[in-house]
Amino acid sequence: MTDHIYWKNGVLYLLDQRELPFKKIYVKCRNAADVITAINNMTVRGAPLLGIVAAYGMVLGVRERMKANRSVAAADIDRIAKKLGDTRPTAVNLFWALEKMKDAFRRYAGDTDLVEDLLGEALAIHVEDIENNRMLSLYGAELIHDGDTILTHCNAGALATGGYGTALGVLRAAHEAGKNIKVIATETRPYMQGSRLTVWELMQEGIPVVLVPENHAGLLCSNGTVTKVITGADRIALNGDTANKVGTFMISLAAREFKIPFYIAAPVSTFDASIHTGGEIVIEERDSREVKYLDDRLLTVKDAKARYFAFDVTPSGNITGFITEKGIIQKPFKKYISMLF
Ligand code: MRU
Repeated sequence: MTDHIYWKNGVLYLLDQRELPFKKIYVKCRNAADVITAINNMTVRGAPLLGIVAAYGMVLGVRERMKANRSVAAADIDRIAKKLGDTRPTAVNLFWALEKMKDAFRRYAGDTDLVEDLLGEALAIHVEDIENNRMLSLYGAELIHDGDTILTHCNAGALATGGYGTALGVLRAAHEAGKNIKVIATETRPYMQGSRLTVWELMQEGIPVVLVPENHAGLLCSNGTVTKVITGADRIALNGDTANKVGTFMISLAAREFKIPFYIAAPVSTFDASIHTGGEIVIEERDSREVKYLDDRLLTVKDAKARYFAFDVTPSGNITGFITEKGIIQKPFKKYISMLF
């Protein structure tokens, strides 16, 4: 288990990703409200990690409820899950994990050790995510050739998951296999997940990485620098349309124009069998303050109007394939994605 999220003596410890790479500070979550705050204020982020954190949040919520009342009903579970789900709408892993926790409650309801049972389920979700990442990374590493320069956007690393990572997991596995690779990491305005998190993760392992603003994608695809693009995902529709960090769509257009393979690395928990196309995905809009300010420093005219959509949808036509723990999914996506479920 990695050290960016762990459970100890009844407390959930989360490495505060807002402070990285400068400080390693842990936020302690003692109840579901603490978890909700940590998700909303970006202490933690990344689709698979949001699911895992929400699962532990359910354990804390049920424990609180039982302290107050000694018993917990299905309606209480639904209420706790709703509050955790009302944080960020786009990453499906969050809702997937909440459903798994509700199923676990139905299995264990009435048990005297209910909290321990639910904790076991949350730990299983956490461990399984790491195993899935390792597996998909082995499949993905097969696609990487010696000498490749791979562009990645946002942070789809250990920090965004239970551990090891999805897109960065593939790069890790290729590096571990002795392949000579270079990575181009985009800054990822305005939260700078690329500058602060991806660069930090890769440099710790000696994987060569160069940081660029994401508006360099067109240039670096056109001049032959980038040989592959691999990103993570927040939600994938049955037809392969994929929501990921805003800017991914723009990068996919540059890759398509110059016939550069564009892969999405994601566990099966990021596929949403209930939606057919990307048009059904809710795109989170965050506070415009996050665009107008860098920490507390104003970057524009004080009263300027600004908007910040945290994700965009890359149409399946721009995607070469999906790297999952069940193998590489190629076209026709609709047929092969349906077979995952
Ligand atoms: O806003 P964030 O930082 O939660 O967005 C994260 C991303 O878009 C990641 O690329 C995605 O969740 C995949 S993480 C394995």
